[in-house]
Amino acid sequence: MIENLNGTALITGASSGIGAIYADRLARRGYDLILVARNKARLDALAERLADDTGRAVEVVAADLGNRDDLGRVEKVLRTDASITTLVNNAGIGATATLLSADIVKMEEMITLNVSALTRLTYAAVPGFVKRGSGSVINIASIVGIAPERLNGVYGGSKAFVLAFTVSLQKELADYNIRVQAVLPGATATDFWDIAGTPLEHIPSEIVMSAEDMVDAALAGFDLGERVTIPSLPDAADWDAYEAARQKLVPNLSRSVPAARYRLGG
Ligand SMILES: NC(=O)c1ccc[n+]([C@@H]2O[C@H](COP(=O)([O-])OP(=O)(O)OC[C@H]3O[C@@H](n4cnc5c(N)ncnc54)[C@H](OP(=O)(O)O)[C@@H]3O)[C@@H](O)[C@H]2O)c1
Repeated sequence: MIENLNGTALITGASSGIGAIYADRLARRGYDLILVARNKARLDALAERLADDTGRAVEVVAADLGNRDDLGRVEKVLRTDASITTLVNNAGIGATATLLSADIVKMEEMITLNVSALTRLTYAAVPGFVKRGSGSVINIASIVGIAPERLNGVYGGSKAFVLAFTVSLQKELADYNIRVQAVLPGATATDFWDIAGTPLEHIPSEIVMSAEDMVDAALAGFDLGERVTIPSLPDAADWDAYEAARQKLVPNLSRSVPAARYRLGG
């Protein structure tokens, strides 16, 4: 076994799609891996292939992150395995139905996975990163985090949470040598769409990226030191302008008096 210089990356939702490509790319970058998802057979097959191809150590943890006991097992791994340097919070589900046709039980399950599990795993990982003086968290959000009118609103809201949480952590952890990146993929060719309720064939091909290109772009953004990466956005200056507009609002978002236009009878 080659010396492990990068440490271990724990990747959730690694049994398919974007997470499986992260596993491939991070193993090739020299990381050992801990792969998490429900489908153990798929995780085992990927682990065997990556260990053979790259010589890295690849472990599998079969867990339903929507189940408190299973989630607790993964949190424990993050709290106790000091070799972990990177957490990729990728497991997630979406929906394309509107409020009038969506099932509230499924909406709540989505919040549990996309929001609660991601939050608990981050809380489990970061104290160890702080103690060890470095670490990275890569949070897979979505462009619907800033364009929630594009798909189901609960899904958009869950991804807006991921973006907001990430931006807040970037500030909180700035002095601790911890990188926190939000990745905002557009439509990506994975099983996501079938599970979300709209087959991929129904999405115009000109807006769909391969999972390989998406992850390679996201990792290029990580290498560039980006805090927010939108793989398809042609001009990074457009994001900078969006962020500058947000920052311009900040000093006026909390003041002792209402704005003049809200002063009744004035
Ligand atoms: N595809 C897109 O267009 C797109 C666009 C923007 C953002 N994203 C985001 O990208 C991330 C990955 O999605 P994907 O496109 O790669 O879809 P995917 O192929 O369906 O992958 C989802 C992964 O999450 C795992 N997962 C689902 N429920 C789980 C649970 N309860 N516990 C543990 N693992 C669970 C799945 O594995 P098991 O079934 O084995 O558990 C699978 O490995 C998601 O957060 C998604 O919101 C996707």
